[in-house]
Amino acid sequence: MARLSRAKVLGVTDMVFWFATDSGDISGYSLHSCLHRKQLPKMSRSTSLSFRIASWLLCFGLYQATALSAAPQNTMAQRMQACASCHGQEGRATNSGYLPRIAGKPAGYLYNQLINFRDGRRQNATMAYLIDHMSEQYLHEIANHFASLDLPYPPAQTTNAAPATLARGEQLVRHGDPSRGVPACAGCHGAAMTGVAPAMPGLLGLPHDYLLGQLGAWRNGMRHAAEPDCMLEITRRLSPQDVVAVATWLSSQPVTQGMAPANSLPVKPAMDCGSGLR
Ligand code: HEC
Ligand code: HEC
Repeated sequence: MARLSRAKVLGVTDMVFWFATDSGDISGYSLHSCLHRKQLPKMSRSTSLSFRIASWLLCFGLYQATALSAAPQNTMAQRMQACASCHGQEGRATNSGYLPRIAGKPAGYLYNQLINFRDGRRQNATMAYLIDHMSEQYLHEIANHFASLDLPYPPAQTTNAAPATLARGEQLVRHGDPSRGVPACAGCHGAAMTGVAPAMPGLLGLPHDYLLGQLGAWRNGMRHAAEPDCMLEITRRLSPQDVVAVATWLSSQPVTQGMAPANSLPVKPAMDCGSGLR
């Protein structure tokens, strides 16, 4: 097995790591080349410190992957090791914290999100930087790779929320609230809440804080989807207490292994959406 005998960091700003192996092979990796098939331009010196730290952690993930594997380093699974430092091993995330699982989500949904980060409909500097300069073809390949993974889910999050909060969350997810014009979440996200092909995401297996963050971002205009953006309308009709209730109930539901996105919805959704089902 190839063993790293020396690894020298040549300045974090430049994001260049040189890995020297026992065999004397020396390969240079910029942050981009951790992910891309070829070397791309270096980062500007104005890059924020937090981003640099995140990037360093990311390359460290690749460093570990490199150290552990003797196989040639150019399969999709190996290139995507760089995502594991945040999204968990093979993109399966844990049940806590903020980071979303990406493994097993509909390919169309994953692709749309990568495009949303690139085009500024979602705000995350790291995600936008990582996919900068990637071709749409390669983004499709990445989306297909993570969509094809069928991996175990972590146990549901525990909660000590009041029973009334959980009941309100379940009611909104399964039935909506006609008095506020809120359609049932399950009417679009699937009766089993595991999403629908080609691009409707599931709602289970996502951490509480991530759900709160995303619903809040839509409400505040920080996250957008293709027009008509039905989630913008829906989150504006929910009260802040309702947002907490759905996030709490959803994150406390277990996910049965092998629950794949549904092929279609039995009933046409209550609202038109620019993404999800097309
Ligand atoms: C430094 C941490 C970090 C790394 C590394 C990272 N991501 Fe992310 N990713 C995030 C965060 C944080 C979010 C949620 C951002 C938000 O609030 O919208 C995210 C969101 C996503 C989403 C949207 C998920 C959803 O359910 O909507 C996709 C898809 C994604 N990342 C793919 C990738 C891929 C592919 C890689 C590797 C090429 C990668 N990420 C590497 C931090 C990271
Ligand atoms: C009319 C259809 C529709 C209904 C009803 C609906 N959604 Fe959505 N939802 C969507 C679509 C479409 C997307 C994907 C948007 C995109 O492409 O970014 C989405 C995305 C999401 C996401 C992002 C998932 C992720 O991994 O980041 C969350 C969270 C969400 N919806 C929660 C809810 C909740 C909670 C309800 C019920 C209160 C609900 N949705 C009702 C259509 C709907």
